[in-house]
Amino acid sequence: MENTMLFPQVGGFLHGGDYNPEQWLDRPDILEEDVRLMKKAGINSATLGVFSWSVYEPAEGEFHFEWLEKIMDRLYENGIYTILATPSGARPAWLDAAYPEAMRVSDRNVRNHHGGRHNHCMSSPKYREKVALIDQKLAQRLGRHPGLLMWHISNELGGACYCPLCAQRFRDYLAEKFDHDIEKLNKAWWTTFWSHRYHSFDQIEPPFAHGERSIMGLNLEWKRFTSWNMQDFMKHEIAVLKKVTPEIPVTTNFMELYYGLDYRKLAKDLDVISWDSYPRFHNDYESFADTMLWNAFQHALMRSLKPQKPFMLMESTPSLVNWHPFNKLKRPGVHKLACLQAVGCGSDTVQYFQWRKGRGSYEQFHGAVVDHDGSGETRVFREVAEVGEILQRLAPMAGSLVKARAALLFDWDNRWAIDDVGALGRQTKRYEDTCMKIWKEFRRLGVEMDVVASDEDLSRYGVVVAPMLYMLQPDTARTLRAFVEHGGQLLATYFTGYVDENQLCFLGGFPGDGLSDLFGIVSEEIDTLYPADRNHVAFSDGTRWEVRDYAELLRLKDARVLAVYEEDFYRGRAAVTCKEYPGGGKAYYVAARSEAGQMRPLFARLLQDAGIPEKDLPENVDYCSRVGGECVYDCYFNYGTEPATIFGVRGFDMISEGYVDGELTLPAYGAAILKMETSGEPSGEP
Ligand code: GAL
Repeated sequence: MENTMLFPQVGGFLHGGDYNPEQWLDRPDILEEDVRLMKKAGINSATLGVFSWSVYEPAEGEFHFEWLEKIMDRLYENGIYTILATPSGARPAWLDAAYPEAMRVSDRNVRNHHGGRHNHCMSSPKYREKVALIDQKLAQRLGRHPGLLMWHISNELGGACYCPLCAQRFRDYLAEKFDHDIEKLNKAWWTTFWSHRYHSFDQIEPPFAHGERSIMGLNLEWKRFTSWNMQDFMKHEIAVLKKVTPEIPVTTNFMELYYGLDYRKLAKDLDVISWDSYPRFHNDYESFADTMLWNAFQHALMRSLKPQKPFMLMESTPSLVNWHPFNKLKRPGVHKLACLQAVGCGSDTVQYFQWRKGRGSYEQFHGAVVDHDGSGETRVFREVAEVGEILQRLAPMAGSLVKARAALLFDWDNRWAIDDVGALGRQTKRYEDTCMKIWKEFRRLGVEMDVVASDEDLSRYGVVVAPMLYMLQPDTARTLRAFVEHGGQLLATYFTGYVDENQLCFLGGFPGDGLSDLFGIVSEEIDTLYPADRNHVAFSDGTRWEVRDYAELLRLKDARVLAVYEEDFYRGRAAVTCKEYPGGGKAYYVAARSEAGQMRPLFARLLQDAGIPEKDLPENVDYCSRVGGECVYDCYFNYGTEPATIFGVRGFDMISEGYVDGELTLPAYGAAILKMETSGEPSGEP
């Protein structure tokens, strides 16, 4: 089997986090103590230099890396590796003073003042030049350091810039995309509407808040451009580093379900996917299990960006954050649970923001492994140290992969288009929420789903669910058809296949591009319900689902009707249909919105037909699994505050280091990782 271990030199999981020694250079005693405490907590990696530019280069052209080298040396001597960030996430004051073009311009055409972070212009040639220089110096000075594991590009790339440089780049991007033919753009964007035709590319502006926002194609293309431009900036940094250290892998830290960048595109330029996880644990609007499953969905999305490798949990807090609306502490045991969940979902690292709390400024009260008391005695420190011990026991699992046989389709273009479209209910579109709820329901059935693009090859899956796939990419219809014709079980919902990639409506009946034939229906109208309105759909076996928000009115072609509406003027009309294909494939269409929990029997039917086994899990118990090196690692998590017993399980529990045969009882917030050889034998061998 291919070695998918991210860091062979580490030989297991990374346990570490953001470390900011530059804030403590006048306290050598603290820097000394950090190393002692890191060893005590089982830390084997530190992420350095994320916001170090003003210390590296206090004045233009004057570089200081000695301190960093000393720290990396000391860490390495003590068995701690370094992930080194490029410092482009925040700029020194001299840079903005000398080159104001580096400061971003808002959608109201106002240029920022110096300050904050994550707010540079991605187009500015001067900023790119300065970033390239410092990246090059860093790589030349430290790229060969034996402790260096990987490059971490900038920090949480995001946002948009509306400056004249970006606007010009946007025009160039459009000219290239539309073959320098403005009529092609006018056609694609339907600009004759409201007399918005362009006569040359020079007339196009970004969609300013007080400017042109009524052309759907423009709005969408601006988002695509911003994503592309950020990717281009990131590639610019990567190119500099790869020139000096081609063998060192690169990543950048992604954010949960981040809206502004199409991560799938950025992922192509990264060696490894990493992301920052900050769930709102113990909130007052959902169950703890729901929060954990929300987090599992994020892991699945990130994992699916590069399914052939483990991903990295680059940041998480050991205790609390300082930026949620309510900064609640993780209850005892929850830290370990969340870390192990990341591992179960396919992460080969558990990393924190941050190692030590700073004394001042915005994040002084953000959780850290070491608190202001400076000791290794706190509850939080002890819980982190316990995670460190467990990760060592789990080392043989590193490099194993999650192999999902079901997939949920989720496109950034589609979410942007749905949010922008003048249709449906303003408050009830909820594309992400709809996807997540369906994903969670499959997971409650013990089935792992990848989260993939609508035009990806789907042949490795048996079940594919496509919620609200309003916008079809040029290859989507072909991909879906091939999937069903090869025996796949496909489920699509209301609001599928209305527009093409430019947001032009398909003519000839929705879902367009041939999908109406695939499903055997035409969607004629969509009814948007007021929040208090309800309808119901009824199946022939007496099952009923409650309908809220959306109900499409279908005209049947050659699909079979599984359920009909019960109320309103469309009472008796088809609401859930299925078209069967000779190879066993089926195309289901669910025309109305119902709670995912009610749809569970239908999901179970798809799984059964695809031969994907469900698991009978007790309430609040979550399951996922990794495979690698002739072993299967079955992970069970109890998200409840009461013990839970799971029956019919076997294996060597790598956490408690004992054999399980038949019955496993997990305490509140407990976890077990059962190792079995693929031959079916429990494996306790490392
Ligand atoms: C992340 C960021 C870190 C830190 C952390 C606090 O989004 O990358 O630098 O600010 O949030 O939770």
